[in-house]
Amino acid sequence: MSSNFPTCRWGIVSTGMIASWFVADLVLDRPDAKAKHIIQSIGSSSVQKGKDFASKFCPQSSPTIYGSYEEVYADPSVDCVYIGTPISFHKQNCLDAIAAGKNVLCEKAFTMNAREAKEVFEAAQKKGVYVHEAMWLRHRPMVAKLRQLLYQDRVIGDVFRMSSDFFDRLDIPNLPETSRYKHPKFGAGTLLDIGIYPLTWALLTLDSNTPDNAERPKVLASQTHLHGVEVTSSIVVQYPSSGRQGVITSTHMSSKPSNLVCRVYGTEGYIDVTGEAPSMPHFFTVYGRKEDYQTFDQGRKYEFPHVGLGFIFEADNTALDIAAGRKESAIMPWQETIRVMELMDEIRKQGGTEYPQDHE
Ligand SMILES: NC(=O)c1ccc[n+]([C@@H]2O[C@H](COP(=O)([O-])OP(=O)(O)OC[C@H]3O[C@@H](n4cnc5c(N)ncnc54)[C@H](OP(=O)(O)O)[C@@H]3O)[C@@H](O)[C@H]2O)c1
Repeated sequence: MSSNFPTCRWGIVSTGMIASWFVADLVLDRPDAKAKHIIQSIGSSSVQKGKDFASKFCPQSSPTIYGSYEEVYADPSVDCVYIGTPISFHKQNCLDAIAAGKNVLCEKAFTMNAREAKEVFEAAQKKGVYVHEAMWLRHRPMVAKLRQLLYQDRVIGDVFRMSSDFFDRLDIPNLPETSRYKHPKFGAGTLLDIGIYPLTWALLTLDSNTPDNAERPKVLASQTHLHGVEVTSSIVVQYPSSGRQGVITSTHMSSKPSNLVCRVYGTEGYIDVTGEAPSMPHFFTVYGRKEDYQTFDQGRKYEFPHVGLGFIFEADNTALDIAAGRKESAIMPWQETIRVMELMDEIRKQGGTEYPQDHE
């Protein structure tokens, strides 16, 4: 790796599932790395948890382990804090890190609602630090290629509709009381957990504009609740200027029946995105319409290199942003996070999902 590449020293806040995925990708050996990543410190509710986490997920690193998050924020060797706590804690974790003058990469959903997101960005602006919602899907090279094919090369003609569905089976009544999936006060429900990905696919495939001048779609939403938690969301997204529509769904009632994670329909063909889940696409295939107007060709498959689970793309871009002195990501700027949160606020309003934080 070139020594000219920026180095980012990360402070990892929390030791849950997503933090383990993120850290494991950060320490991967890669020939095409754009930045050098160092796990500088780990903050957890317990030092032992932090030690166990480090020895399991980044055994080749030697981070400082803290028994609190505050010590990570105060660590002068940390360039960027990664926040992987449940959604309901993001606002306070971000505000605390920002108050300590730290740059922040915070997991999705960024906050519980748009009001909280605005509060965080106002604090970041005042303090002059970098803050970025970790919507890793947007950083995958596949997404840029897909958008180029859709809106520059117009390989499927006029895009008129898309669909995307995120399934994940959860046995909510039998989860521990501390589970982030169990109570609205933690942000439980499919929308902020997994529905945000089909929504992101809709925003990425139905609008040719970049996030800095994106059009705001209308949404028509329905949500079903069980055990006091939203378990199924169905949303129609419609763009006023083009009439393009997205049908996006998420559920905690079933595991996925197929590997199709997104389909984009055009007047001259369609594109199927295939993968583990809408958050983890692997490849896509472009099918062209035949002259009979009824059938499609064999399809052309576009494959992309697998680098761990795929977190490294957002991590590299974050390191490059910070090294360049930027305060926002061009791929996921603040106004785009606010737009997504406002759309999810509207979906929850129509679907009847409220969080205690909405009334603070
Ligand atoms: N990008 C993705 O694809 C993806 C996938 C899954 C989740 N996520 C996001 O990542 C975040 C965390 O999800 P997760 O599945 O990793 O959660 P998790 O496994 O439950 O871990 C959350 C961690 O947060 C800390 N924490 C602090 N206060 C807590 C509290 N009161 N209750 C529970 N944990 C608390 C704990 O770490 P310590 O005890 O060490 O402090 C815990 O291990 C969520 O925002 C979620 O939306 C993103």
